[in-house]
Amino acid sequence: MKSYDIAVIPGDGIGKEVVPASLDVLHTVAEVHGGLRFHFTSFPWSCDYYLEHGTMMPENGLDILQNYEAIFLGAVGDPARVPDHISLWGLLIKIRRGFEQSINVRPAKYFQGLESPLKNPKHFDLIVVRENSEGEYSEIGGRIYNGEDQIAIQNAVFSRKGTERVMRYAFELAKKRRGHVTSATKSNGIVHTMPFWDDVFKDICKEYPDIGHASYHIDALSAFFVTKPEIFDVVVASNLFGDILTDLGGAIMGSIGIAPAANINTSGKYPSMFEPVHGSAPDIYGKGIANPIGQIWTAKMMLDHFGEFEIANLLLEAIEDVTSRGIKTPDIGGQSTTREVTEEICRCLKGMAGYNRTR
Ligand code: NAI
Ligand code: MG
Repeated sequence: MKSYDIAVIPGDGIGKEVVPASLDVLHTVAEVHGGLRFHFTSFPWSCDYYLEHGTMMPENGLDILQNYEAIFLGAVGDPARVPDHISLWGLLIKIRRGFEQSINVRPAKYFQGLESPLKNPKHFDLIVVRENSEGEYSEIGGRIYNGEDQIAIQNAVFSRKGTERVMRYAFELAKKRRGHVTSATKSNGIVHTMPFWDDVFKDICKEYPDIGHASYHIDALSAFFVTKPEIFDVVVASNLFGDILTDLGGAIMGSIGIAPAANINTSGKYPSMFEPVHGSAPDIYGKGIANPIGQIWTAKMMLDHFGEFEIANLLLEAIEDVTSRGIKTPDIGGQSTTREVTEEICRCLKGMAGYNRTR
């Protein structure tokens, strides 16, 4: 029996609805698998917590989280009561930085039963692996002079270590998928860092002779996300390019409510964090209609991270089965509630695994 200790932070708004839903699904996963057990410890760190304690999480919050194998997070933010920069920097960013979660992984896939804005989405199924700790998003630079002489400089930082790390992650991921990595570059316009990025990519390609590879300039690559997304398997990108591509990836799927994400610590020194792309959606909180799929698919990514690929894939199949039968929340054109979708996914999982409900 394998057992996983998971820290759970539902957070704010619909995080408090879709996280419990996903835990129900994970309990079902454990049940149908038979050889798995999850131990969840829930932490109330959120904007409510902030209003009571003046801090988003306790001083030793990271020390506490350090002991878990993964962090499963809903969403943080209650903009009517707490400014977003406080909630974001006080919890999310602290965890991402403190735990060196230098890689952000976001899949995008055509789902049966979902309406992609693409006219002909074919059956795209890709994952963007984004460098999440350096690159264009550095704090190096500044402004000098005033008036018409004003100058602003922003430096990009690409370390060999950071670049190799994200590329190796992409290739390892491709090994477990369809065996292809595309690099997002712009070495025709950005003449120092991007040729460096290309050089490192060539080096890493040599380490993986069995994995196919391609390199496209980010402008063309973005266009291909719209015109032929089915050509991509794993896409590796710098911080800025990855940021933009992942939003585009989410957009071609059809709804922010289904998009999952993972923040990965590759050294294994700290836990990785799994959280959906969407926020706390205060506009629908309390109505019971939040789409749980983003959070449930995020749970699937956590299972992948644990190496539980078989049951993870079964879970994804169950999600798709449910959407294809029209059991959907209103954001994706259905009339079902969070609960109904969740229960149906659990039922479907049990059915797929040939689980005998009468025992
Ligand atoms: P949001 O993602 O919460 O909502 C954007 C729109 O999408 C809303 O109309 C919402 O109803 C809808 N939506 C989002 N998730 C949904 C779901 N699962 N099912 C159905 N509809 C869904 O983004 P917004 O409104 O910009 O931010 C609200 C709060 O969330 C803010 O405080 C913001 O800072 C925070 N936020 C937190 C994130 C995180 O914890 N990682 C990410 C993005 C925003
Ligand atoms: Mg973004």
